[in-house]
Amino acid sequence: MTTWSLRRRPSRTLGLLLLVILSFLVLRRLDWSTLIPPWLRHRQLGLQAKGQNFMLEDSTFWIFGGSIHYFRVPKEYWRDRLLKMRACGLNTLTTYVPWNLHEPERGKFNFSGNLDLEAFILMAAEIGLWVILRPGPYICSEIDLGGLPSWLLQDPSMKLRTTYKGFTEAVDLYFDHLMSRVVPLQYKHGGPIIAVQVENEYGSYNKDPAYMPYIKKALENRGIIELLFTSDNKDGLMKGVVQGVLATINLQSQNELQLLTTFLLSVQGIQPKMVTEYWTGWFDSWGGPHNILDSSEVLETVSAIIDAGSSINLYMFHGGTNFGFINGAMHFHEYKSDVTSYDYDAVLTEAGDYTAKYSKLRDFFGSFSGAPLPPPPELLPKMSYEPVMPSFYLSLWDALKYMGEPIKSENPINMENLPVNDGNGQAFGYILYETTITTSGILSGVAYDRGQVFVNTVSVGFLDYKTTKITIPLIQGYTVLRILVENRGRVNYGNNIDDQRKGLIGNLYLNNSPLKNFRIYSLDMKKNFFQRLDINKWDTLPQTPTYPAFFLGGLSVGLSPLDTFLKMEGWEKGVVFINGQNLGRYWNIGPQETLYLPGVWLKKGINQVIIFEEMTAGPVVQSTDTPHLGRNQYVH
Ligand code: GLA
Repeated sequence: MTTWSLRRRPSRTLGLLLLVILSFLVLRRLDWSTLIPPWLRHRQLGLQAKGQNFMLEDSTFWIFGGSIHYFRVPKEYWRDRLLKMRACGLNTLTTYVPWNLHEPERGKFNFSGNLDLEAFILMAAEIGLWVILRPGPYICSEIDLGGLPSWLLQDPSMKLRTTYKGFTEAVDLYFDHLMSRVVPLQYKHGGPIIAVQVENEYGSYNKDPAYMPYIKKALENRGIIELLFTSDNKDGLMKGVVQGVLATINLQSQNELQLLTTFLLSVQGIQPKMVTEYWTGWFDSWGGPHNILDSSEVLETVSAIIDAGSSINLYMFHGGTNFGFINGAMHFHEYKSDVTSYDYDAVLTEAGDYTAKYSKLRDFFGSFSGAPLPPPPELLPKMSYEPVMPSFYLSLWDALKYMGEPIKSENPINMENLPVNDGNGQAFGYILYETTITTSGILSGVAYDRGQVFVNTVSVGFLDYKTTKITIPLIQGYTVLRILVENRGRVNYGNNIDDQRKGLIGNLYLNNSPLKNFRIYSLDMKKNFFQRLDINKWDTLPQTPTYPAFFLGGLSVGLSPLDTFLKMEGWEKGVVFINGQNLGRYWNIGPQETLYLPGVWLKKGINQVIIFEEMTAGPVVQSTDTPHLGRNQYVH
């Protein structure tokens, strides 16, 4: 077993100094290779596959990895979670990179704040962890459209995850940008990145044989020089293998271990074995149970994987939260979207707390480490605050006045093609369509994922996957027909990712005649959305509110803000915003009953709480110090 000390990176001043000397030497045409600092000179081989072993430079190396997604954990807690990972005896951090969050609009990149990938990677290095990067571009991971930007779907012929020109051109531009950031962080350049994944489980999709070679080249051409690997689950293993790239597998059950021993051997001969995703738990969908996996079973499987001579990565070590609207969905027989929590029953909880899995795995990995493991950091305290009693209210219909002019269009336009956000369409949230009707009858159309239909302000039903026709009651005179459509999350796994446009898809018909002349509001509920609703726009809470509506209250916090969980008892379905931060969706069909509210997003004093409720508001929002993720069911 190798130790995994990592030297501190040179300071900025040192970097500048080197740059000046280098420019000087280049100008004078001198041999600059002598400038490579001695501590970098031994970093020439990186992680290699040698026979059945991984080698890091001259030593045999076992990857004991764990996944944490920086975009699912408040930046202020990254250090805490990474220290906990290191103290569990793991030596490698594995993370995906979500293209949709980093390039929200074509050509406009965001790598700041909670999306500061380089800071996350460097922090891991500082803490003594190597890094395995999973840049996609498709990353699955229960994120909307598997991490692909929704603006790609503006093209009606788009073929995601293929060498279709419209897709590769976008990937090329994104990779140009992303790789220029991560290339210097590779091992051979002195950084912690020891391996890079080529796409993700492409074997299960496998629509274009030219695609994986293209992605491999796209990485290499931009300076990726560390070990490349693919990872596939049992359904895609045969098809995911790429010439010149190490194949690895994803699994959960011990019954699948023969994949490690026989399958990998049969496809690539003697190579180091790696389980890139050992699923420590599982994600949850709305309307289902909270999936859990027993800690003793986890320990048994982890040790069986290592006994089989394989390296391992725990997916997830710490899952975190699908803050905002970023959750993905599945749509095989039925459309099912993922809940806000990405607790995953992982090794650390959603809020970063220790679990039985943590202590068992710490003992286990500790036995390999050769030296005592660093002590696990103290728990971050949790708090129950006084309930929030909303005292102000604004019905959605009144709020529309402050939303600016709607988009006018003869026919409905889906979210992605709406002319907003500099032509990039709307990625997330809700969209409202209005038109005038003069008769009752049968309304039909396709609304993804769920469209609540109103006659004026009265709710008359839903259009969704199951219901594509509803009756519009008898009305007199001119009436406004409204459909509020929610994007509940685009599919992140399966063959239907090209069909993930949201809102009204195609025409809306009344008695088989297409309705015309729509007014369309983009209700993305981003920060600037609420900036338009200053306090004098709100009304005091009426006895019988009209829904959907926004509710405004204050959460009172004492001297030091702490983590808490908001209990949405009595509320039916909606979204919660704290000081402008979108905490995510709640829904009384469960399983999830509480929303994680990180203390670092609170301030001393009164914190603004806005709840968007579609159906029925509760009297208060309670705060509790314990999460309730719903009825447990063992993963099967
Ligand atoms: C696959 C994917 C991951 C994730 C898991 C399930 O293995 O590669 O991104 O979706 O399934 O959590």
